[in-house]
Amino acid sequence: RQQRKFPDDFLFGTATASYQIEGAWNEDGKGENIWDYMTHNNPTVIKDVSNGDIAADSYHNYKRDVEIMRELSLDAYRFSLSWSRILPTGMANEVNPAGIEFYNNYINEMLKYNITPMITLYHWDLPQKLQELGGFANPYISDWFADYARVVFENFGDRVKHFITFNEPREICFEGYGTTTKAPILNATAVGTYLCAKHLVIAHAKAYYVYDKEFRASQGGQCGITISVNWFGPHTDSAEDQFAAELKRQAEWGLYAEPIFSSEGGFPKELSQRISEKSAQQGYAKSRLPEFTAEEKALVQGSSDFFGVNHYTGYLISATQAKVQNPVPSLPDDVDAGTIVPAEWPKSASAWLTLSPNSILYALTHLKERYNNPIFYITENGWSTPPEAGLNDDMRGTYYRTALESVLDTLDAGVNLKGYMAWSLVDNFEWMEGYTERFGLYSVDFEDPARTRTPRKSAFIYKHILSNRFIDHTYEPESMT
Ligand code: BGC
Repeated sequence: RQQRKFPDDFLFGTATASYQIEGAWNEDGKGENIWDYMTHNNPTVIKDVSNGDIAADSYHNYKRDVEIMRELSLDAYRFSLSWSRILPTGMANEVNPAGIEFYNNYINEMLKYNITPMITLYHWDLPQKLQELGGFANPYISDWFADYARVVFENFGDRVKHFITFNEPREICFEGYGTTTKAPILNATAVGTYLCAKHLVIAHAKAYYVYDKEFRASQGGQCGITISVNWFGPHTDSAEDQFAAELKRQAEWGLYAEPIFSSEGGFPKELSQRISEKSAQQGYAKSRLPEFTAEEKALVQGSSDFFGVNHYTGYLISATQAKVQNPVPSLPDDVDAGTIVPAEWPKSASAWLTLSPNSILYALTHLKERYNNPIFYITENGWSTPPEAGLNDDMRGTYYRTALESVLDTLDAGVNLKGYMAWSLVDNFEWMEGYTERFGLYSVDFEDPARTRTPRKSAFIYKHILSNRFIDHTYEPESMT
């Protein structure tokens, strides 16, 4: 078939997050965050009892990281800011100049080599002092976040034109507040997730309007949000499976996307209905899902310049199969469909991540139809290998080639997709899994105090694709030693 090309202005990059790579957890005035707090006070919640105190030490290695970006010929780099490095207590009246300086140096180093910086304001490392006040369960989070956003736009917006408020609301709210799979491990299943969801989308919207009203005219950039959109397709064509898949999509990402991107605003309808029914069965007088006031709904609706999609994998949803097959937990008690992963889909080192065919195309065309084709960026996509796999990561290369074929199909389908960020630039602290799974195009030697970085085979494959703007399936880098 004819060789298909990626558009010249399509942004190819990689993504990382502050807590996962920076280290320097208590240096130069940085305040404690919820991951520092949890890993120090409750170390055994992490699989290998590790933490991000040093991680890939990017705080000291940022020039090497930018050199890697150049080695890969990246157009763009998505990274997150550590809120408590900039505002040690989380509150905007106390700014840490060393934190501002670090990110200025980092950004300037990228710009020197024409690499477009894309900033995520929040990738899960809430200042601990704000958690002590309730974190995302406290409605004031939206003001704290908007004030922090103003400090960020003021300091970096002259040079940075792509801002992402939050990375993955589902993981923040459901995993952090509804379960024990992310800090602050609150496990407040019945209310935590939903309360957090409401406050988070309002916080996003307030930050968006800080940008829109105070900075857009002079800075001319964009402000959006990144939501994890894995694909949940029906197991069979039956109406029951179709409905179960729809409900699952609403629970997994519609809860956060619908209030912002849908034309009506507010939480997704079928999911709201289901939560009301369940709440009534459980003897609550009102639904456990909080409501938006008309004013809040209007504030949130339409508050994003683009839709950032983190996509890794897909699942098949069944109304009848047992929930025990579920490799990813659902919203407890509210959406309880079975999740099936066909045995033939290749498996990564992460229990939840398989290579699910065409899932990028399915997810993005679904979002295009549902939300009237906004601007999209794929802000994360990647594959994990076990540490012992070393530099020969053939499956990661296959994964990227397969994913990028699906990206070309997505572009052919008319989806307004503007860029793709691979997860991740370098190996890093994989949250509850510590250093037992690796996502880097470059490996990091965590035994070595210098945290030496070495390209994996997939790094050459990715570079070959983005510099040629097409996928050459015959290209084979030398095998690595
Ligand atoms: C997160 C990353 C994480 C990756 C792999 C995404 O959900 O944004 O921080 O490392 O998945 O688990």
